[in-house]
Amino acid sequence: MSRTRVAILISGSGSNMVTLAKDMASPDHPGEVALVAANKDAPGLAKAEAMGLKTTLIPHKGRPKAEFEAALDEALRYAGAEVICLAGFMRVLSPEFVARWEGRILNIHPSLLPLFKGLDTHARALDSGMAVHGCTVHGVTAALDDGPIYGQAVVPVHPGDTPDTLAERLLPREHELYPAVLRRFLAGNTAPLPLL
Ligand code: GAR
Repeated sequence: MSRTRVAILISGSGSNMVTLAKDMASPDHPGEVALVAANKDAPGLAKAEAMGLKTTLIPHKGRPKAEFEAALDEALRYAGAEVICLAGFMRVLSPEFVARWEGRILNIHPSLLPLFKGLDTHARALDSGMAVHGCTVHGVTAALDDGPIYGQAVVPVHPGDTPDTLAERLLPREHELYPAVLRRFLAGNTAPLPLL
């Protein structure tokens, strides 16, 4: 069975990257990690290296976005990537980049889209008086935090929650959702997966 080569893009701790890579280490998985790439010196890079994964650092800072994305695109193609998972990746990709990888980029966003696109999702869910919060894995399009929903996981909001306690409750659900959705996506199943 030939496995789809998956690149994982990170900017931070890389906890979602680790769960995706651990799942792809299983022999029955339809995907394999082609590359872990970061746009800054992210702690997740060391985790990927410790797992024996190929890594690269492609800084975005101090150069035009087009140049950053050209370098990223080249690294992805050199690694033979076929699908890209954004996992705590905090740069907005240009419509041109997205068009080159159309239908082959997934993202995890820490809210129940289409609610709370963008940043500070936990604080905004609390401020809105939500009884539930959650995360979404979706296909990436030129519009920010938009695109087809491939899966969502839900957590309750508790009295006295802060953005930090809510984020802490949500992260383990992200780690359940993303690997489950990626497996289905690689098998051609894009029907939204609800984890309640
Ligand atoms: C996660 O909650 C992820 O959903 C969020 O960053 C956090 C850290 O991810 N991503 C975004 O906000 C993307 N806009 P990590 O622990 O996998 O690095």
